[in-house]
Amino acid sequence: MAKPIVYVTRKLPTEIISELTEKYQVKMWEEEEVPVPGDVLMKEITQASAVLSMLTDTFDEEVLNMASQLKVIANLAVGYDNIDVKACESRGITVTNTPDVLTETTADLTFGLLLATARRIPESVDIIRNDQWKTWSPYMMAGSDVHQKTIGIVGMGAIGEAVAKRATGFDMDILYHNRNRKPKAEEKLGASYASLEELLAKSDFVVSMLPLTKETKGMFDAQAFDRMKQSAFFINASRGGVVNEADLYQAIKDEKIRGAGLDVFANEPIGSNHPLAQLDRVVALPHIGSSTVDTRNRMAMLCVENIKRVLDGMEPLTPVKN
Ligand code: GLV
Ligand code: GLV
Repeated sequence: MAKPIVYVTRKLPTEIISELTEKYQVKMWEEEEVPVPGDVLMKEITQASAVLSMLTDTFDEEVLNMASQLKVIANLAVGYDNIDVKACESRGITVTNTPDVLTETTADLTFGLLLATARRIPESVDIIRNDQWKTWSPYMMAGSDVHQKTIGIVGMGAIGEAVAKRATGFDMDILYHNRNRKPKAEEKLGASYASLEELLAKSDFVVSMLPLTKETKGMFDAQAFDRMKQSAFFINASRGGVVNEADLYQAIKDEKIRGAGLDVFANEPIGSNHPLAQLDRVVALPHIGSSTVDTRNRMAMLCVENIKRVLDGMEPLTPVKN
């Protein structure tokens, strides 16, 4: 009997893929920096028993209708807004993600982005790159302090808590907003629950760690930025879709808030012509939150393990619930 097909939608290291090749026929989109085109995915998915997918791949009804053998989509990300999970459930397709293994790595980047934004690190790097450093001067690149300020974390999942833990080292006051209270985080990290309105009004750094859902889409809008302090920064390392980007641009332009650190955008990739990328007070990164070699290896291995388990008729390690 022919081996079941596992389709991998981006080039991944051979050592990781070799974990699958004994029992399965692995087919791979061989590009590292180009996502698999929709029509290729539609074709490949007709034969596949499993897909190891990226957050750049869309699995909607149209794509899923082509999948007659598919048992599992293992998404190489903690977020899974690229997948219609309900449509998968109704077709008996298991969806898995990669939580936990990327928590600390993503929190490191988020805090780094916060620091870089407050202390204007990328702008300062450019001063030397562009040979603009004439002398030391008292207020050159004067930024904003981080220590002893208030951080407001919106979306207190595992990554939110890991960001809060880092904030304790900077003696920050920690506010959080979440669907449910997190008594353990309150106790361990000294984080205080706040309504969204209160958090926005009091925080020096508003940090979004929200998943993108119908409820969170566009929730950081003009009204939210109006509520923030003029001296405050908005940091987003979750999903661009939670922000109304035109409103954010206007809020920074109009000095309603001081700036933003953004690792994610509504429509990725963006380039230097994106309005937000043109503002000095925005630090823009190309969605690298979990991008360390160790963590990306762990994420890929977790996808492989989830695929093996589902195809063996076992529970996956990290299933996504609709
Ligand atoms: C990255 O954004 C992820 O969801 O893992
Ligand atoms: C800055 O380098 C200082 O010495 O204050």
